[in-house]
Amino acid sequence: MLRVIAIDGPAASGKSSTAGLVAKRLGWAHLDSGALYRALTLAALDNLGEGWPAQRVVDLAERLPVRLVLAADRFRPEVAGADVAEAIRGERVTRNVSTLAALPEVRTWVNAQQRLAVQACGDRGVVVDGRDIGTIVFPEAPLKIFLTATPDERARRRLFQRGEAVDVELVRRESEALAARDAADSNRRVAPLKPATDAVVLDTTALTLEQQVTRVVELARGLFPG
Ligand code: CDP
Ligand code: CDP
Repeated sequence: MLRVIAIDGPAASGKSSTAGLVAKRLGWAHLDSGALYRALTLAALDNLGEGWPAQRVVDLAERLPVRLVLAADRFRPEVAGADVAEAIRGERVTRNVSTLAALPEVRTWVNAQQRLAVQACGDRGVVVDGRDIGTIVFPEAPLKIFLTATPDERARRRLFQRGEAVDVELVRRESEALAARDAADSNRRVAPLKPATDAVVLDTTALTLEQQVTRVVELARGLFPG
């Protein structure tokens, strides 16, 4: 049985926070696939200038390289040997990442990295979060979760996470930016954001992080032996 839990959902729905804590409780590893798309975007912005033919992005990724490195219980993104976990959260990367993530060749490359990373974990399970983990990357994952929350709640969470003021105008603007990225991710031709038909859909709007983590851990304990 493939020891993978797939967690998908729109931006700022709580995927990474939930996946990280679930992995800790199960003693598994956490792989944030969005971090790899972000690291690739950072590398393309810094090295390729305007316009990104997919093959050049993939060649660049191989050459630098752009990769995920397992450190204790999570995979962290590296570009040319440097940890870019902080750098990839910037506004410039966030604004451009969906464009790069719509390129089919780039997705094929990212998916291959994810499968290799899971293989390298052997018997240790991996909690993988993203947009297409349950539908495309690991459709055979025994547990698939699709997290949602209202756009305003997600905007508030993101502002709070960044330590910014949570006032009405900022929530409106952040909510619009999230909606634009979700629309791009949901409407692209390849691997659009959507729940797998057998995913457990969890609306977290009125949940605490602890509640949703407990729920996923309970489901996992019922499904995965040992
Ligand atoms: O954390 P946040 O929700 O802001 O986004 P992320 O998970 O870091 O993903 C950034 C972007 O990468 C998304 O908006 C998608 O365009 C892309 N992505 C994807 O296409 N497929 C995935 N499995 C993960 C991310
Ligand atoms: O990965 P994704 O973009 O889906 O979300 P995230 O980076 O995990 O960010 C979600 C933020 O909302 C984090 O600061 C969480 O602590 C917070 N949060 C949550 O995930 N779930 C709740 N029920 C409440 C808050």
